[in-house]
Amino acid sequence: MSQRVKFNQRLFDLPLLQGVGRSIHARRLARQTRFQSTATRFFRNLKQFQAFEGPLSGLADGQAPLRILVAGCSFGCEAYSLAGYLAVRFPQVDWTIDAFDISQAAIAVAQRAVYGPKHGLGDPLEREAKPYADRLFERCGDERTIVPDIRQRVSVSHGDLLADDFTADQSYDLVLAQNFLVHMDDEAASEAFSRIVAAVKPGGAIFVGGMDLDTKVGLIKHHELIPVDWEIEAIHDSDEMRRSTWPWGYWTLEPIDRSRPDFTARYSTIFRTKAAVSQPVVSD
Ligand SMILES: C[S@@+](CC[C@H](N)C(=O)[O-])C[C@H]1O[C@@H](n2cnc3c(N)ncnc32)[C@H](O)[C@@H]1O
Repeated sequence: MSQRVKFNQRLFDLPLLQGVGRSIHARRLARQTRFQSTATRFFRNLKQFQAFEGPLSGLADGQAPLRILVAGCSFGCEAYSLAGYLAVRFPQVDWTIDAFDISQAAIAVAQRAVYGPKHGLGDPLEREAKPYADRLFERCGDERTIVPDIRQRVSVSHGDLLADDFTADQSYDLVLAQNFLVHMDDEAASEAFSRIVAAVKPGGAIFVGGMDLDTKVGLIKHHELIPVDWEIEAIHDSDEMRRSTWPWGYWTLEPIDRSRPDFTARYSTIFRTKAAVSQPVVSD
């Protein structure tokens, strides 16, 4: 992050200026045209993945294969980052990731699985993400290629979450749908969200960072999802791409307001679906 951006972020985080920030953002939200973008990068929010070592540990206990869906995967950085993390932390687990995106150009990059600075390589590879990046990539000059054993476990395809023929059958333990619902209008975001929820098993989880917060709170309630109260502030503030641009774009992310009664639903990015209720055994 540049010094200028850091200063901007700190400025509108100051208690005195938080109201100004919110009113600038409300105007941007009302006036700016929403557009989709393929912006992504590797290890964008490693802290979020670490929920597998916390509240989501039951999903990766090795008792059953772990099935993950990444919707709106762009160049594949998010799906492969999660893959690298799982390969290092859960080598005993049989995991697979299905990833899809509406952009054919982005999918071509994800399927080729060869990355240069243009497609999401950056700073974090050298910091806390280094052990995962070392497991994930083979280096060749300026480029890095996803190693074959990880590439094989990640299936990348073209798909539109909002297409008429999109099917979802509660078959995934975890669904990631991050940083594209924020670019949809409320009606499309609501439809997309229903499809995401329908893809998750009972007792499974969804990651939905990068959504309009008011829209999210309403949809969480409507679908009776359970917010995961774990490292909420750390995950929130790790979203540098959106936090550092607050309040100037409609997609940007406000500073946390700890006094809000809807704090957990508003600021958590991890939600659980209710576990299946076991049916009583009926005997004749
Ligand atoms: C900003 S990128 C985020 C990529 C990744 N999820 C991340 O968080 O880094 C959003 C991606 O969502 C994709 N997308 C938007 N609408 C979609 C839809 N209806 N179905 C599938 N992908 C979609 C875009 O093409 C874009 O590649």
